[in-house]
Amino acid sequence: MGKRLVVVGVQWGDEGKGKMTDFLGQHANVVVRYQGGNNAGHTITFDGQKFALQSIPSGIFHSGVKNIMANGMVINPPAVLKELEALRGRGITDFQLFISDRAAVVMPYHLLLDGAYEAQKGDKKIGTTGKGIGPAYADKYSRIGIRMGDLLDADYFAERLGNALTVKNMELQMLGLSPLDFESLYQEYLSYAKALRPYICDTAALLHSEIVADSHILFEGAQGVMLCVDHGTYPFVTSSSPTAASVPLGTGIAPKHIKYALGICKAYTTRVGSGAFPTEIEDDTAHYIRERGHEYGTVTGRPRRIGWLDVVALKHACRISGINWLAIMLFDVLSEIKTLKICTAYELDGEIIDYVPSTFSACQRCRPIYIELPGWQEDITGIRTFQELPSQAKAYIHTIEKLTQIRIATISVGPDRTQTIIRRTVF
Ligand code: IMP
Repeated sequence: MGKRLVVVGVQWGDEGKGKMTDFLGQHANVVVRYQGGNNAGHTITFDGQKFALQSIPSGIFHSGVKNIMANGMVINPPAVLKELEALRGRGITDFQLFISDRAAVVMPYHLLLDGAYEAQKGDKKIGTTGKGIGPAYADKYSRIGIRMGDLLDADYFAERLGNALTVKNMELQMLGLSPLDFESLYQEYLSYAKALRPYICDTAALLHSEIVADSHILFEGAQGVMLCVDHGTYPFVTSSSPTAASVPLGTGIAPKHIKYALGICKAYTTRVGSGAFPTEIEDDTAHYIRERGHEYGTVTGRPRRIGWLDVVALKHACRISGINWLAIMLFDVLSEIKTLKICTAYELDGEIIDYVPSTFSACQRCRPIYIELPGWQEDITGIRTFQELPSQAKAYIHTIEKLTQIRIATISVGPDRTQTIIRRTVF
């Protein structure tokens, strides 16, 4: 029976989904990205080499695996070409890549508008990755977006670009920016279309045939549920939905084909960009975790904000995505911290609550309520079985399971593929 698993970030992104997708991808026939674009940064380490992927699925390193960039994504053609060039430059040449003809294209005006909107917001800015993601999704829903398939038909592309540019140039000028020239943009994107043509196809039809063939399919979420445009900490979110619910729409297959969801969760919490973060810490422990966990953005290089594990947000994310199991990532980073904290509830205006409020203003006022657990002093990066972990480390894992009522299937104790404790095979 073909396995279908969605890998979902259950925090604010950067949970280590790349490592898990790469790890599980060894058993997959197909790996699919279903939302987001090159705002994501998936770091994968194996054989002593480190690779940073942004829009290409993490199954790209396994020859024989079909990698799909599905219709729910927003795709920046020159960025994809650069990623492909970087992979080839490092000897990754034996891969299969398929790009949906229905995926939205990120155009240069989206990047300019992303920057301009942020500048307008002053100190209320979202702290986007600046990759044009929000404006590209907005155009998709305003029906003036350009799709990957449009690029392959020169006349139709000219019509679509002409329509879009009329509106976008007005917007750029209103924001004090220079309008873009149709002809140079048109020629530039035709050249990208030529380079990407071999990869562009109807990926929903391809996926359907893989389902008929009973293939093992892994769906790779980007960002995390707390950055979901519907269920995250709005408005400090991305413009897509990283939840498991996005998979059918973002890939073109029916919901009945998705069976299981694996939640990827750091042993603590990080966040980049602005927005409420009830368990944020800014002390020596935060510094220790940031340096030990290399908590700097893969895409922007920004230092990530650090906090204790927030089980209120975690339960919210797991419920929305129907998480069956959790993978705890960067567990080794917590070694040598004397006392560990886990947030189990918030105090909001004198009341104890166990849910995530819908408004930024209420989330900002939430004060974390913690339980404390003793840490462990041993280096655990060489450990490969749960039994070998120090008793305090086991207790930390058991506490998360008890609080979330979700079984922890794997524990990552280092960046390499091999540094993984498997408690249950999920794929
Ligand atoms: P955008 O997706 O570039 O529009 O950024 C919106 C928010 O999502 C910002 O707070 C970003 O820092 C955050 N974000 C977007 N992609 C990622 C990611 O892959 N990891 C973590 N945060 C992200």
